[in-house]
Amino acid sequence: MHFFTCIVILAGTVLFARGESLENVVELELQLKTSGRPPLNPRFLSVTIDASLASEPKYITFLRSQKLITLTRGLSPAFLRFGGTQSDFLFFDPEKNPFEKENLFRDFNLRNQANKCEENKALYVQNKLQDQWIFQEQIILKGEFLKKYKNSTITKETIDLLYGFANCSGLHLIFGLNALLRNAHDQWNSSNAKLLIDYCASRKYNLSWELGNEPNSFKKKSGLHVDGFQLGKDFVHLHRILGKYRCYKNSGLYGPDIGQPKKSSQKMLTSFLEAGGKVINSVTWHHYYVDGRTASKEDFLNPHILDSLASEIKTVLQIVNRTVPGKLVWLGETSSAYGGGSPGLSNAYIDGFMWLDKLGLSAKLGIDVVMRQALFGAGSYNLVDSDFEPLPDYWLSLLFKKLVGLVVLNVGFKNPKNISEPKTRVYAHCTNANNPKYKKGDVSIFALNLNNNSQQIQLPSSLSGKLIDEYLLLPGDGGLFSKTVLLNGEVLKMVDNETLPTLHGKEKAPGSALVLPSLSFVFYVVKDAEASACL
Ligand SMILES: *[C@@H]1O[C@H](CO)[C@@H](O)[C@H](O)[C@H]1NC(C)=O
Ligand SMILES: *[C@@H]1O[C@H](CO)[C@@H](O)[C@H](O)[C@H]1NC(C)=O
Ligand SMILES: *[C@@H]1O[C@H](CO)[C@@H](O)[C@H](O)[C@H]1NC(C)=O
Ligand SMILES: *[C@@H]1O[C@H](CO)[C@@H](O)[C@H](O)[C@H]1NC(C)=O
Ligand SMILES: *[C@@H]1O[C@H](CO)[C@@H](O)[C@H](O)[C@H]1NC(C)=O
Ligand SMILES: *[C@@H]1O[C@H](CO)[C@@H](O)[C@H](O)[C@H]1NC(C)=O
Ligand SMILES: *[C@@H]1O[C@H](CO)[C@@H](O)[C@H](O)[C@H]1NC(C)=O
Ligand SMILES: *[C@@H]1O[C@H](CO)[C@@H](O)[C@H](O)[C@H]1NC(C)=O
Repeated sequence: MHFFTCIVILAGTVLFARGESLENVVELELQLKTSGRPPLNPRFLSVTIDASLASEPKYITFLRSQKLITLTRGLSPAFLRFGGTQSDFLFFDPEKNPFEKENLFRDFNLRNQANKCEENKALYVQNKLQDQWIFQEQIILKGEFLKKYKNSTITKETIDLLYGFANCSGLHLIFGLNALLRNAHDQWNSSNAKLLIDYCASRKYNLSWELGNEPNSFKKKSGLHVDGFQLGKDFVHLHRILGKYRCYKNSGLYGPDIGQPKKSSQKMLTSFLEAGGKVINSVTWHHYYVDGRTASKEDFLNPHILDSLASEIKTVLQIVNRTVPGKLVWLGETSSAYGGGSPGLSNAYIDGFMWLDKLGLSAKLGIDVVMRQALFGAGSYNLVDSDFEPLPDYWLSLLFKKLVGLVVLNVGFKNPKNISEPKTRVYAHCTNANNPKYKKGDVSIFALNLNNNSQQIQLPSSLSGKLIDEYLLLPGDGGLFSKTVLLNGEVLKMVDNETLPTLHGKEKAPGSALVLPSLSFVFYVVKDAEASACL
């Protein structure tokens, strides 16, 4: 006890020097014997590319960037979901050559290169495209704001580049088919989808499928109302089509990619699952905490906003339990703020509070996969910006992938009444045993501190004699609005376009204080924890 007090005072002195008050001590209780939960999907942390990147076919060539492929490979294994509002306005034209009118692309035949993973030699094309993309991005975001969408054409090259990118990066592609192509009696018209599936089959592409994006707002986006029951039947129809292909009869089919579970969406989800639940492999829904156009800094640090996710998850799980019990549930598209994100917040260090808490809470409550909107593309909620620079959330995702395993452990506070819960948020998993630095039985704890002062995390006594690797993430220049992040004091950056940095933990001697500075996040790996839930 004497020793303990001493540490607190020491840490407190340091912190006083930075103008912060003495930290609280947060004592954890951790269940290491059993988890009592099924393990998460090995692709738990997954990513999306919004279909708006294909609003003109040429922009998909961004996906040939070696740098982007390197960054994405770091997140493997994962799904790459291609979908979003624009996917219901895409028409596949197998005859069209996308680049015929573009001088820029003369002599630039991408077609048979899609499966090759080396850098696009014609980098100048990329630079020219980036100049044009700035304007295209404005058009996309404005269209979304006004709910005005334009049909556009995708080509074989679009599919090749998308598939090539996923395959080179070690990700499994999920392609969102257009559900707004409808016949007179409102049934889905599958003829265009068949052409697309035929093409994928001819190339032996191994991918999975979705049909439609946020069908609860089809009326607003297109004037067409489709009810949940009809959409369920459309999925049964698609499932029957896929069953005719040798390569797709067992491929994944996910849906209905419903928006936030408000009353009308809950009704739609229920009737969808009653009609089509049996043909899907997982139930997908979308979640955003706030509106990107009005979100404030305080929102990103507000524990009640972070907690709002829990009640939505419970609502969806209840519907699924009632209609298709046992079916897995995925967050099929999710980010901090909708409408393209909140510029200056969604692309900065501060977004990490919403992102890391979402990963922790979703895993804890039984969500099997979380797909981050977006990896790359229009808006400010991407992991990688339009200059192909990884943002703080990219590094957070990479650390999560490398350190956090698939078995969720029960963790709680010892004295829940007198600690500053829920502003200190702590999650625990078995460590990712595929990480060569660690082994089975190790435990990963990650935490975020929304308090205005430091928190000292105290592990249960069963772990107090263990070595711990600390991975503390603090903002670079710009504080909470920083576009860079420090791992244990060093700026995280790529070594070169083909190399990610090694992520070094800081070894803490047994019994050292684990101090989490105010407004920061951290991962701890407890080595040789020999947690039987993790063996
Ligand atoms: C897109 O194309 C479909 C099918 O041809 C058509 O029904 C729909 O009105 C078009 N939508 C827009 C916004 O042009
Ligand atoms: C489905 O759409 C195609 C054109 O995309 C059209 O030729 C066909 O007649 C439509 N099918 C039905 C049943 O309306
Ligand atoms: C995907 O990539 C692997 C290597 O990573 C390769 O062996 C395979 O042929 C590729 N598949 C397709 C369909 O391109
Ligand atoms: C297709 O990909 C899935 C997911 O990675 C994999 O489980 C399956 O074995 C693959 N199928 C074929 C035919 O390669
Ligand atoms: C699912 O519903 C049943 C009752 O129908 C209930 O006993 C069970 O606890 C529910 N499971 C979950 C995970 O909510
Ligand atoms: C917290 O509450 C417990 C009893 O519930 C008490 O024993 C302990 O001293 C309190 N800790 C602090 C720091 O106030
Ligand atoms: C944190 O404390 C500083 C000064 O001590 C104060 O200005 C600021 O408003 C506080 N922030 C929060 C989120 O409480
Ligand atoms: C690295 O990638 C960026 C973005 O794609 C590109 O602008 C730059 O030229 C590349 N650098 C090298 C050395 O290839």
